[in-house]
Amino acid sequence: MTDVSSIGSGPDDDRPVLTDRQGHPVYDNQNQRTVGPRGPATLENYHYLEKISHFDRERIPERVVHARGAVAYGHFEAYGTWGDEPIARYTRAKLFSERGKRTDVAVRFSTVIGGRDSSECARDPRGFAVKFYTEDGNWDLVGNNLAVFFIRDAVKFPDVIHALKPDPVTFRQTPNRIFDFMSQTPEAMHMLVNLFSPRGIPADYRHMQGFGVNTYKWVNASGETHLVKYHWMPSAGVRSLTEADAAVIQAEELGHATRDLYEAIERGDHPRWELLVQIMSDDEHPELDFDPLDDTKAWPEELFPPKPVGRMTLDRNVGNFFAENEQIAFGTGVLVDGLDFSDDKMLVGRTFSYSDTQRYRVGPNYLQLPVNQPKNALVRTNQRDSQMTYYVDQAGENPHVNYEPSTIGGLREGQYPTHDDQGPVIEGRLTRKRIPRTDDYRQAGQRFRLMEDWERDDLVRNLVAQLAQCDRPIQERMVWHFLLVEDELGLRVGDGLGIGPGDVAHLEPLPSQDLGDEDRKRLANLG
Ligand code: HEM
Repeated sequence: MTDVSSIGSGPDDDRPVLTDRQGHPVYDNQNQRTVGPRGPATLENYHYLEKISHFDRERIPERVVHARGAVAYGHFEAYGTWGDEPIARYTRAKLFSERGKRTDVAVRFSTVIGGRDSSECARDPRGFAVKFYTEDGNWDLVGNNLAVFFIRDAVKFPDVIHALKPDPVTFRQTPNRIFDFMSQTPEAMHMLVNLFSPRGIPADYRHMQGFGVNTYKWVNASGETHLVKYHWMPSAGVRSLTEADAAVIQAEELGHATRDLYEAIERGDHPRWELLVQIMSDDEHPELDFDPLDDTKAWPEELFPPKPVGRMTLDRNVGNFFAENEQIAFGTGVLVDGLDFSDDKMLVGRTFSYSDTQRYRVGPNYLQLPVNQPKNALVRTNQRDSQMTYYVDQAGENPHVNYEPSTIGGLREGQYPTHDDQGPVIEGRLTRKRIPRTDDYRQAGQRFRLMEDWERDDLVRNLVAQLAQCDRPIQERMVWHFLLVEDELGLRVGDGLGIGPGDVAHLEPLPSQDLGDEDRKRLANLG
């Protein structure tokens, strides 16, 4: 190996010498090679060409959603029991079962709609994605700071995101496009009541909750399944910004939340969250007025009390923003033994989308990158090659065998699980139908009634400010929905727009909705 340490350095300069990617020392990083000092450049100048062509490729596509974010590392510590009851009774996932068991984590907080350099003061959900590096491989819990979502079927995701993103002609985010879509999407009302309340602009990443939003399953050692929802509660409490607060911060800085997280960790003020789960038996629950697989609904806490399962502490910042924040890849398909999917139609759709986009955005070998590797579990596959192969997985003793089954070496299948059959038996015809029990307004109304006066004032003010920029038919339909959510909300938003209940009484229910008896009664009273 050539010792480049002394080449080109002055005798007193003991800093390492710059090289190119081939390990060749760079003698001159200020001037290209040219024919004479003023002459044309030469094309064989490897150092320049390598440097500039790498620079030309520095950017990878940003995430199609959640482009702006910040990563930090830490650990999760399990409680192991609920009082005298072992959590292992519900899940055989090792990370939850033993009191005090620690699992390394990487967390990425994010905004959703803006690009990579956009404002962290936007009224926008915040992402809360956690990668657990467990001994059984990685588990990703990819959540948001709000407990519910805009839609309940993944087929509508590109539409809701297109409506929320900038106009494809003017590249402006426009209330008219957003509320045009929302006015035709009654299931979005619960999310909108949350998003336009003060909770819609979290003060920073350390003071916000996290929710898995979708319904997952836990599986115990006997193969019994339960439905679960995950919630993160910040030890520092929840803080939010009003539009006015946000405008002041935003005028100074676009990335205050990323800075806040980084600085808190650097000064040793390590943020903590407790993880809680709500749990219910794995069936359709006909007694409930909502479907447990509907992510536009919250599970009432009085019926399904959240139970604490552990605590997460973040105590380390990234060493490189690009390698660890831009290239980290989370997905809802990344589960470990004892944790499973439900048939929640959003969750199933999400599960395809994440790894699909990551193969495009980062590359087919994205799981070989250090931040994405299951660093506490062994990886042994017969997957080979493609762009940026960084290493070859160990395929056992015989490197010639990269297939299975084989009589001459290679990898074998694992032990067949004793409880492969799990969960309820499901039957049905292939169909395209919305779920029964859509009940789009009740929980939105309950949320509104739970708000303090100032929160309601803020919600109404925010909605009126946005809707005032929309076409009259969109305003009317939104007032119509809000009257079905709760009289006070509909009346006050309508008041702000000069629209009374009589002005919207002529509107028929949308073809895409099933109104319940209570909704019909409210509708009949509109005139
Ligand atoms: C990021 C799809 C719903 C939370 C993403 C990305 C895609 C996506 C393509 C970019 C991933 C990447 O480039 O690495 C979808 C689809 C959804 C959906 C198709 C609905 C069908 C949701 C919901 C939540 C959520 C309901 C919250 C529970 C997140 C988070 C990220 C993300 C936190 C950022 C992950 C990171 O920090 O890298 N989503 N998403 N998404 N999504 Fe979703």
